[in-house]
Amino acid sequence: MTQAYDILSQVFAARYSCRAYRPDPVPRADIAAIVDVARRSPSWCNAQPWQLVITSGGETDRFRHALRAQAEAGGHAPDLPFPKGYSGVYKDRRSICGWQLYGAVGIEKGDRAGSAAQMMRNFDLFGAPHVAIVTSPAELGPYGALDCGAFVTAFCIAAQSLGVATIPQAAIASFAPFVHDHFGIADDRLVLCAISFGYAEVDHPANAFRTDRAGVDEIVDWRG
Ligand SMILES: Cc1cc2nc3c(=O)[nH]c(=O)nc-3n(C[C@H](O)[C@H](O)[C@H](O)COP(=O)(O)O)c2cc1C
Repeated sequence: MTQAYDILSQVFAARYSCRAYRPDPVPRADIAAIVDVARRSPSWCNAQPWQLVITSGGETDRFRHALRAQAEAGGHAPDLPFPKGYSGVYKDRRSICGWQLYGAVGIEKGDRAGSAAQMMRNFDLFGAPHVAIVTSPAELGPYGALDCGAFVTAFCIAAQSLGVATIPQAAIASFAPFVHDHFGIADDRLVLCAISFGYAEVDHPANAFRTDRAGVDEIVDWRG
């Protein structure tokens, strides 16, 4: 293997979804450097459908407080339909990572108030000092979203390489009309997800577990 492969695989292995942050801001130049790498992501026809709103300081707090109020009021209305369901192995994996989180923060089976409170941490952006809202043109449909998914991964990996922790959050897209309104995002763009980011509070229990992955031979149906 090459040195580039080794470095890349180390950065991928070190990244995880961070659910507790220190308040310190990430320098603007570092945020720009992360986007500078992520913008090299491939996209169909090189359309580069991704656009970001990135908040810092008081703007993050203003969004966090308004989002929290919206989430408490309810009204699930994503621009992109959420998954219809998770069955079989997908249901199992979803359940395992959920229980990993609950186990780490001490929420026991049947503690509905505890699990709801942990879920609501999504809408405090897990205390992150920054959030990026990821949007795609509606006319590009699912392939625009596919391209933006690649961008989200590249953003998280580039951030990790600078010691910046991240968490992609579809939960925030649940309140798409509110997000459009809050940031003045045009109606011809889909709010896909958010990425909260900053420096990890490494000792926080919510950051104490790591998810597993299926092996190569479980993923690939080798032919020939
Ligand atoms: C598109 C996308 C949306 C996600 N939305 C949420 C979310 O709303 N809330 C959350 O806590 N985690 C969310 N996650 C994080 C996943 O739960 C996490 O990536 C997965 O469990 C694998 O764990 P890891 O990122 O720590 O490796 C999301 C991840 C992706 C890629």
